[in-house]
Amino acid sequence: MSSDTDIRSKNQPFYLSLSQHPPTPAFRDLLENYSKILPKDVETHLEAIRDSAWTHHPYPSIGLFIFTDLGLSGDDLPNTPQEITSTYSTILQILKDGGKFLDTGCMFAQDIRKLVHDGAPSTGVYGTDLHGEYFDFGYELFRDKNILLRDHFIAADILDENAAGLKELEGRIDVLNAVHLIHVFSLEDQKLLLKRFIALLKPERGVMVTGRLTGNLNAGYHELANAKATVKGGRAEIFEHNVESFKKLWGEVGEETGTRWDCKAWFWRFGIHTGGEDKPANWHRKKEHGFISFVVTRTE
Ligand SMILES: C[S@@+](CC[C@H](N)C(=O)[O-])C[C@H]1O[C@@H](n2cnc3c(N)ncnc32)[C@H](O)[C@@H]1O
Repeated sequence: MSSDTDIRSKNQPFYLSLSQHPPTPAFRDLLENYSKILPKDVETHLEAIRDSAWTHHPYPSIGLFIFTDLGLSGDDLPNTPQEITSTYSTILQILKDGGKFLDTGCMFAQDIRKLVHDGAPSTGVYGTDLHGEYFDFGYELFRDKNILLRDHFIAADILDENAAGLKELEGRIDVLNAVHLIHVFSLEDQKLLLKRFIALLKPERGVMVTGRLTGNLNAGYHELANAKATVKGGRAEIFEHNVESFKKLWGEVGEETGTRWDCKAWFWRFGIHTGGEDKPANWHRKKEHGFISFVVTRTE
């Protein structure tokens, strides 16, 4: 069996059944009331799109149904911190007032759909991903070709400073979202990535970077079973932050760019995704492993 076949195997810990990660009420609401999918069809629709996308590229986000988590509003968190809820309302208002939102490494762009469902104008939302094919999966999943503008989805390498489409957005973004993107890169490239974020944002106080990344209470490089499908360049390891190291990264990038950032970050055990600690620990590897959600705001 070739290694390419292995990473697409459905018999591995990064491929769950929908019952192990059922859609949250907020995601179900999105499918039923934004995408107009009949309640009885929600599960089969989700499974069909997931399987088709998994064959295309087996990202853990696809196999684990992480694309059904609305990272921005944090609806899947057990006790969503008040700062996350209020930040979501603030972002919604910024967009209603004409601001621009860019979802980086957006894949199916579920956070964009949630914002538009909640009243954000479609003219102010943009998505970008290395793999433009994911935009088509997103349209199939959410059935909204008549709502979201195709030319607001930009296929590009986010680290490429000359990428067409992204270049035009430089200095114009109010809120940049990065859910499960940062950990794809080495620590060195994470710094370049954060600097790209800063270049894309308006050069002013109050602009925000929101999102999530895989985390570990012991920050550092760790082995990852399916690194080939996850990490840039197929390294066998992934750099995982804890809250302190992530804040330190923002401090360093701030110093190197002459900017300052207030970084609020929370560590979550991965178990919450599979319904709680009582469920089989089939894919969250160790006790210290989880993910970090964050809201970073420019202060200077
Ligand atoms: C782990 S997935 C997360 C997807 C989505 N944000 C979510 O949470 O469901 C990482 C995404 O980043 C994209 N990506 C990886 N490297 C990238 C790069 N250099 N530039 C832009 N996107 C990239 C991948 O194609 C993939 O869609």
